[in-house]
Amino acid sequence: MNQQYQPKHADIVFNRIGYGAMQLAGPHVWGPPKDRAAALAVLREAVERGVNHIDTSDFYGPHVTNQIIREALHPYRDDLTIVTKIGYRRGDDQSWLPAASAQELRAAVHDNLRNLGLEVLDVVNYRAPGAAAPDGQPLAEPLSVLLRMKKEGLIRHIGLSNVTAEQVKEAQQLTDIVCVQNQYNLAHRGDDALIDTLAAQGIAYVPFFPLGGFSPLQSEALTRTAAALGATTIQVALAWLLQRAPNILVIPGTSSLAHLRENLAAGALQLDPATIAALNAI
Ligand SMILES: NC(=O)c1ccc[n+]([C@@H]2O[C@H](COP(=O)([O-])OP(=O)(O)OC[C@H]3O[C@@H](n4cnc5c(N)ncnc54)[C@H](OP(=O)(O)O)[C@@H]3O)[C@@H](O)[C@H]2O)c1
Repeated sequence: MNQQYQPKHADIVFNRIGYGAMQLAGPHVWGPPKDRAAALAVLREAVERGVNHIDTSDFYGPHVTNQIIREALHPYRDDLTIVTKIGYRRGDDQSWLPAASAQELRAAVHDNLRNLGLEVLDVVNYRAPGAAAPDGQPLAEPLSVLLRMKKEGLIRHIGLSNVTAEQVKEAQQLTDIVCVQNQYNLAHRGDDALIDTLAAQGIAYVPFFPLGGFSPLQSEALTRTAAALGATTIQVALAWLLQRAPNILVIPGTSSLAHLRENLAAGALQLDPATIAALNAI
């Protein structure tokens, strides 16, 4: 069961379980995948099973992930929304470097358009600097570049990633924000208040690292709950996010068909109030 959510400022109906494409590139999100055929199969099956929201970036690979998405799915179904992000680039040493000058942002939009095979990007998140947490710096300058490209018809909707509540407020003075993508999961809940604010405003909240990212979520309560429900810990972590707020869209990343199926099945998992209370206490 994949419930739906439509943000206030977009004519897009998202199925709440989407797919994060970052795991499709090679190790450390760099270069080609070990098994390209498997990567193509994961994307195709995701869409066949009702995923209509794919999260990506041209700095995954770099370029590789978007090229795989294009090979697997182009021409795209009308109801598929590909959300991308700009604001970073990869160094030759595989590092992640902020890239937020007007020239870099514009080049990133054109890289995404070319590699995805699109004329317009449905949603572009400005990924603000900060590795462990947002740096909280003003967004007016980079957003003015995105707004120009929106006027030019290259971008349909604007979102934000790796931002504080204050940065969201600043951005909302400048333009409608469709979605916010920040780090959040059962064990990393700094955005609890922001999620509720965004829910009240009709803005989607899309947690990155929903399963813990590079350090998978582990907790006794999670293991206990999963065993009691006959589910996996990953499914419980996703079901917890889905019940947390109606505006949460999940984008678990996987390079495995078996994991994809498991993640999609999490939509059918019901958590009772006692279970939710136990998980909230993690
Ligand atoms: N805005 C940002 O700064 C930012 C940062 C990071 C990520 N993102 C986005 O968020 C998406 C999700 O984040 P993520 O992929 O980094 O982390 P994640 O979804 O929290 O976790 C992905 C990891 O979990 C594993 N996994 C997935 N499903 C599993 C299952 N059913 N059982 C066991 N292991 C499973 C994957 O390995 P397998 O491949 O083996 O399944 C992978 O190692 C990314 O794809 C990307 O689009 C955005």
